[in-house]
Amino acid sequence: MRILSGIQPSGVLHIGNYFGMMRPAIALQEEGETFYFIADYHALTSVQNPAALRENSRRVAVDFLACGLDPEQGALFRQSDVPQVTELAWILSTVTPMGLLERCHSYKDKTARGMPASAGLFTYPVLMAADILIYDSDLVPVGKDQKQHIEVTRDVAIKINERFGDLFKLPEPRIQSNTETVPGVDGQKMSKSYGNTIDIFGEENETRKRIMSIVTDSTPVEAPKNPETSSILQLYSLVATEAEIVTIKQAFARGGTGYGEFKKQLFARLWEYFAPMRARRAEIMGQPTYVDEVLARGAERANGIADDVMSRVRAAVGL
Ligand code: ADP
Ligand code: TRP
Repeated sequence: MRILSGIQPSGVLHIGNYFGMMRPAIALQEEGETFYFIADYHALTSVQNPAALRENSRRVAVDFLACGLDPEQGALFRQSDVPQVTELAWILSTVTPMGLLERCHSYKDKTARGMPASAGLFTYPVLMAADILIYDSDLVPVGKDQKQHIEVTRDVAIKINERFGDLFKLPEPRIQSNTETVPGVDGQKMSKSYGNTIDIFGEENETRKRIMSIVTDSTPVEAPKNPETSSILQLYSLVATEAEIVTIKQAFARGGTGYGEFKKQLFARLWEYFAPMRARRAEIMGQPTYVDEVLARGAERANGIADDVMSRVRAAVGL
């Protein structure tokens, strides 16, 4: 089974990325051959500063490795190291109905938030479909917000298959249900573009400050608190043991503990959770050529498959 996913180097990785996409992607290394890439072509829709894009791309690679990605089990590479994917995106775009792209939430959401409505942003899902189809991927682990893009990929693959013969496998999304949407410090979906993130490798004091700034309701210290609606508890549940979760839920229901105290417990648990990853990250940073070697090896493997698939596609469509 071939498993593929990408992550945009549009900023610093946060715990929503970790629990929504990176952790499940890393766990899947046990189940098949993994292809994980840094979606730098996609990030060009929002990052148009060359130094920042280069720096972020490298940082995402380091962070992914630090979080447990094993470059021996699968390939880690930069999307732009396989430029054939843009050729496939063009071919796919010729069968993609405009209406399909017009229905995509992410374009509407991003332009509503002030991102320039570029053609690249509009056709973003077609490039994503090419990313997936060019490696004959079976499974795509992503957060819930990417589900629609996998549906577009399947629709486009079906159109190509109908027109040109069975060229592509239909990929399946894999969405973690217990971490579908990790809330940010304001209670909305955690996202780089909402300024509400808790970073995986943030500095200690900054991380504590972010956690202490989580928005809560105004229930007084003595009163019982609703565990169901609390982002503190939702985040705590991601990093604590079952027993710790039961204990904190009881403390919520009992009353007598303020939100500030719960936030301190959350910080302590979260900081501890990521300690081994921080140590691994320091190790990786101490070997400057390691990441380049990993990315070069990944690119080579990815190119091998992409070349084969593209020969098949070019022949089938008449190029
Ligand atoms: P952001 O919204 O911060 O820009 P991306 O769109 O780059 O994040 O997402 C990268 C991956 O992380 C995607 O698979 C996405 O679904 C997942 N992801 C991002 N934010 C969250 C979140 N708050 N909860 C769960 N998964 C998330
Ligand atoms: N669009 C994805 C995101 O913003 C990143 C991405 C690009 C991707 N190409 C992909 C994810 C292919 C999975 C498969 O998170």
